[in-house]
Amino acid sequence: KRFVVIMAGGRGERFWPESRIARPKQLLPIVGEKAMLAQTIDRLAGLVSPQDVFVITNAEQRDAVLEVCPELDPNKVIGEPVGRDTAAAVGLATVLVRREDPNASFAMLPADAVIHDAAGLRDTLESAFAAAEAQPVLATIGITASFPATGYGYIQQADAMGEFAARSVYHVQRFVEKPDLATAESYLADGNYFWNAGMFIWSVPSIVAELEKSTPTLWQALQAIDQGLAAGQDIDALLATHYPTLEKISVDYAIIEKASNVVMVESGFDWDDVGEWPAVARHYPADDNGNVVRGQAELSDSQDNIVYSRDDTHLVALLGVKDLIVVKTGDATLVCHKDKAQEIKALVNKIGAQE
Ligand code: GDD
Ligand code: MG
Repeated sequence: KRFVVIMAGGRGERFWPESRIARPKQLLPIVGEKAMLAQTIDRLAGLVSPQDVFVITNAEQRDAVLEVCPELDPNKVIGEPVGRDTAAAVGLATVLVRREDPNASFAMLPADAVIHDAAGLRDTLESAFAAAEAQPVLATIGITASFPATGYGYIQQADAMGEFAARSVYHVQRFVEKPDLATAESYLADGNYFWNAGMFIWSVPSIVAELEKSTPTLWQALQAIDQGLAAGQDIDALLATHYPTLEKISVDYAIIEKASNVVMVESGFDWDDVGEWPAVARHYPADDNGNVVRGQAELSDSQDNIVYSRDDTHLVALLGVKDLIVVKTGDATLVCHKDKAQEIKALVNKIGAQE
């Protein structure tokens, strides 16, 4: 049996004022017409049913997740009392999937990647599932690197492991999470390195073995939750007691970098990690002057701006400006130079207006 577990704990501060703590980017249609999380689930159609999808989010967002994805099983939408990063989410996912079927395989997926070719994603995941069901490996998806990004993990491809579901799966020489710029540049020049899509596919026995080896303390602590669930205790009470004690580290540093049985499937689909407003423009056609507009706007003598306003009754007008991001919501307006998009996070922390 196959499951998917979606990690949806992100805060998305860089999409303020559209995103707020109670409504981070995965719950918003930042690219597309539906919430990013809902699109992530829709893309799986035919591969894994929504009833077999878990979502691990923070407790504050649990109701909103069910609102944007009503097809989910409410018992499989798990609210963390505090975020403990992705290694803890993987450990919790393993406990929950193992309770469904100790021989299941499952994919851990991020909530907010932009992928237009859903069929290509499904074919790639199919191959990763097939490899992970045939051998005790941890499967990753490699994206062709197009610039020396320092915000991604890199996968160094080695020799072929074999063909699975009509695709080649490769052994991984090593995995390096978020290298510095010089290192990223050398990887790009080398040509054998791929970006890690942040998707992991494995069987329950394979990931249990890895958790026992790489993060024994974390895995041990999670057994208390498993035993409590077996005794019929409430999951929220168990999480409140045990989750805050877990080590806060990402799956990439805690597990994937250390593991020797990582394999990679080359992505057969487009992929973009839309992390800030300027990235949104990559997914919409620009007008003749390079402006990308979502919503009602009138632009004159203006170039290369991004306008986002989902309020149909409100007109945004730009005159004689260049390289601006203008975002209008019900209670806030952002006007920001494109070059400063990364600093929105700091601005939000200063305003403290996140609710
Ligand atoms: N439930 C839960 N709890 N989810 C979380 C938590 C948490 O505490 N922290 C992060 N997530 C979710 C995010 O919402 C996102 O969907 C996913 O886990 C990945 O977390 P990020 O924080 O976005 O990771 P990253 O972007 O720094 O790096 C990862 O993704 C890159 C690709 O986008 C790594 O896997 C990199 O190697 C990879 O290249
Ligand atoms: Mg990310």
